[in-house]
Amino acid sequence: MAYNRLTAAEAAEMIKNDANVAFSGFTPNGIPKAVIRETYKIAMREHEAGRPYQIGILTGASSCQSLEGDLAKAHAIKFRAPFSTNADFRNHVNLEEIDYEDGHLGHMAEKLRRGFFGEVDWAIIEVSDLEEGADLCKAYLTTAEGIVPTIARIAKRIIIEWNHFHSPVAKHLHDVYECGEYPNREPIPLLKIGQRIGKEYVEIDPKKIVGVVDCNIPEEARSFKAPDSETLRIGENVVEFFLSDMKAGHIPSCMFPIQSGVGATGNAVLEAIGKYADHLPVLNVFSEVMQDAVIDLIEKGRIDQAEATAMTCTNECIQHVYENIDFFKKHITLCPSEISNAPETIRRFGVIAMNTALEVDIYGHENSSHICGSRLMNGIGGSCDYERNGSISIFYTQSTAKNGTISAVVPMCCHVDSTEHDIDIIVTEQGVADLRGKGPARRAEEIIEHCAHPDYKPLLREYQKLADKGHTPHNMRCALAFHDTFLKKGDMRLVDFGEYLK
Ligand code: COA
Repeated sequence: MAYNRLTAAEAAEMIKNDANVAFSGFTPNGIPKAVIRETYKIAMREHEAGRPYQIGILTGASSCQSLEGDLAKAHAIKFRAPFSTNADFRNHVNLEEIDYEDGHLGHMAEKLRRGFFGEVDWAIIEVSDLEEGADLCKAYLTTAEGIVPTIARIAKRIIIEWNHFHSPVAKHLHDVYECGEYPNREPIPLLKIGQRIGKEYVEIDPKKIVGVVDCNIPEEARSFKAPDSETLRIGENVVEFFLSDMKAGHIPSCMFPIQSGVGATGNAVLEAIGKYADHLPVLNVFSEVMQDAVIDLIEKGRIDQAEATAMTCTNECIQHVYENIDFFKKHITLCPSEISNAPETIRRFGVIAMNTALEVDIYGHENSSHICGSRLMNGIGGSCDYERNGSISIFYTQSTAKNGTISAVVPMCCHVDSTEHDIDIIVTEQGVADLRGKGPARRAEEIIEHCAHPDYKPLLREYQKLADKGHTPHNMRCALAFHDTFLKKGDMRLVDFGEYLK
């Protein structure tokens, strides 16, 4: 049987003010775009008419400009979880207009199941193919799984966006599995990266489907700043660290699988890994996203299995995968985010976690989400899911930001996302700090000596001298002087601890 067909505008009109709407996709990829572009027009129309129009937005991770950027600009978002990398969204959050819960991506499906976001009025799900059965709808996803198995089950009503930009062969990449309920949940039966434990499709009750919107829209893929000499140097330092840790026997010669987080720095690290891939054994990837660099390394035979919840690739790369699906389906698996980001699987495989920090402190705490304490950058995404559970937890960052006026190594982070207890290795373009098996004093030595920029080493040393005696020595009056000086004078190099000791 054929389900009801709707235009995107007709579908959008059904979503009323105050609705909670959950979306397929993870990163810009797999996000349904047709209906939401019409929702933007409705928000503008309603606001012009003096009527309220705001919706709650629930996704697997960050999304795209049409969804959270444009709706933020239209003041049409009342609530948002769990992650965003969008500049317009960030601006409106920092203006205190939007209630944003920055949460672990691996917890999102669970939080939805347990009702922490209230009822999910709508789910909008992008598909590459659809089996329109009378008793069961089989929805074949596109480039991401994220939280779809859960929202498809708990949403009250569902709109399907059948995006013909995506080939139906995308189904061969998917492995759909939803975790059971607490407290008697079965272990996740994934014992090997790339093993299939579920189905190629998401099951949907046809009674919930109000209509299918046909469309043909490319992904709103993000582009990254091109790697520069500093970010590439960070990548080279990571590769050198792998090689020396393999020599020391901490990493086995077969290597552990790797995870790599979002952003320009993470992208540059992947490029460096690609450049030096011949020095490393064939890799496996267990991550939340795979980018173009991973697809390239699969083709070059340097990556065997890549399992993630999203293929966050450019449109050209996605079409290339579809055109060569018989090859890629043997190497790529897309799974739900509660599998890719589960403590259980990350631990089982011994994943090496690699994410980007905005700043680290001298004892190894890390901040990846807030600038100078108050202003949101993006959020934690899945970084803490991996860092807490990885076999080796790496954070990297450039040692300075904003033309050297900010040090990424500070006495005390102004906001903490991953703690000293979860981080093993810090890498900057200056070098590598190995924190494993070291207490606070030796950690501070490693971080200042190997990771801080030479312009800031004297200030950090001076801070150590001013610190009170103790296990983790700090001087609370001077602790946040770096940030305070930046806010007042626009340059952390102008720190004068004397001002804080008066
Ligand atoms: N203080 C103030 N600003 C800083 C800073 C600091 N300590 N460090 C970096 N910045 C600024 C940069 O100058 C840049 O500003 P611009 O956009 O105006 O040029 C911006 O932050 C982004 O920094 P960039 O060096 O381009 O890094 P990136 O693209 O690699 O992103 C994060 C870095 C931390 C924002 C990004 O990796 C992130 O969101 N991480 C958290 C989530 C995560 O790790 N997810 C992984 C799994 S989903």
